[in-house]
Amino acid sequence: MWYFVSPEIVFGEGALDALDELEGHRALIVTDAMLVELGLVAQVKSHLDKAGIETHIFDAVEPDPSVQTVRRGVEVAREYEPDWIVGLGGGSPMDAAKAIWVLYERPDLDPAEINPFITLGLRQKARLITIPTTSGTGAEVTWGIVLTDTEEQRKMGVGNRENVADMAIVDPCLTVGMPPALTADTGLDALTHAVEGYTCAWHTDMTDGLCISAIRLVFEFLPRAVADGSDIEARERMHNAATCAGLGFGNAMASMAHAMGHTLGAIFHIPHGRTVGIFLPYTIEFAACAAPDRYAELAESVGCHSDAGEGKTEVALALAKCIRDLCREINSPTSIAELGIYRTAFESALDKLVDDAFNDTSMVTACRGPSYDELRQLFLYAYEGRPVDF
Ligand SMILES: NC(=O)c1ccc[n+]([C@@H]2O[C@H](COP(=O)([O-])OP(=O)(O)OC[C@H]3O[C@@H](n4cnc5c(N)ncnc54)[C@H](O)[C@@H]3O)[C@@H](O)[C@H]2O)c1
Ligand SMILES: [Zn+2]
Repeated sequence: MWYFVSPEIVFGEGALDALDELEGHRALIVTDAMLVELGLVAQVKSHLDKAGIETHIFDAVEPDPSVQTVRRGVEVAREYEPDWIVGLGGGSPMDAAKAIWVLYERPDLDPAEINPFITLGLRQKARLITIPTTSGTGAEVTWGIVLTDTEEQRKMGVGNRENVADMAIVDPCLTVGMPPALTADTGLDALTHAVEGYTCAWHTDMTDGLCISAIRLVFEFLPRAVADGSDIEARERMHNAATCAGLGFGNAMASMAHAMGHTLGAIFHIPHGRTVGIFLPYTIEFAACAAPDRYAELAESVGCHSDAGEGKTEVALALAKCIRDLCREINSPTSIAELGIYRTAFESALDKLVDDAFNDTSMVTACRGPSYDELRQLFLYAYEGRPVDF
């Protein structure tokens, strides 16, 4: 037995108009300061005004939200008593909004106690709307919440199926102002979700099609969106890709590139999509022999051919090469060294990187689970930019 969860999804240009019809009294908008500055919060607020809903803005969410920020947001929610929580932004504000909502409803819980095995009994006080302004995380449709424990320099995944949003509003107009590097980073996150959702041990018939659809869209439209941010067709298709990939991996699981990316990002403060995008080709090369058919299907779906032969493993390996080519086309780094991390700093962090990645929840579903030593090797190969050959 398995589950597939999803919010109601309103998508396409002008989807924000759906807010005009919302029924309620008070909305707490959870967001970040940059989105206030860019005017995106004002846009959302004006739609809620039309609906006759009062708003309060909590704009203190930092990239990779901390448990402390969530606690502050919960205090604000308790005082304001909203009947809607609106998570507006990239994955950081949307994840913070999910956690704030859960703890507003369940003041007896600690963030680390939000897990899939308990009954939360949400929706007694409020409901949740998610509105992504980046095209990447899929957090608008997933129930997973990624918080950072700043003391331990560690990301932790929490969440429960109940805390999936009631409604996700996927409007590409909110993404046209993303600069090229943010477009590239978040697009690679969507790509990694699609590939890992399709190849992880928990993929299902329900999620496969969504992942294939997303990977095709990313290969076709991400270079266009990076080259010309005002290309609204590319923006729209990438926004849809991110949501499809979110439904795909969110109802299956992520895998090794996420386990490795989480740890590198938490220690060196690198954007999530950039780190997982770097590790993706290395992890494909490592795991291809364990699921050659799955990777080959993905390669074929994006017209990726092998020069080394027509066997499934060769075709699977060609996918890694095509992803590196895509990264170069959109000016994204393909090795840890290219991130500007000095070898000495990398080597002093290596034990912690391997330890944390080995224990990351996304590692459980890897189709070829690495040994501790293999994982160490993978980090070293990814530092130097050497294709994996073991
Ligand atoms: N819950 C999930 O399923 C899930 C999945 C993947 C990643 N995540 C988490 O999501 C977070 C990353 O989210 P993200 O990559 O979307 O970035 P983000 O939310 O951290 O935002 C990064 C920066 O982009 C800016 N920004 C956002 N939208 C913009 C726009 N339209 N124009 C200009 N600037 C804009 C923000 O203000 C911020 O400064 C990480 O914490 C990651 O762990 C969660
Ligand atoms: Zn991700």
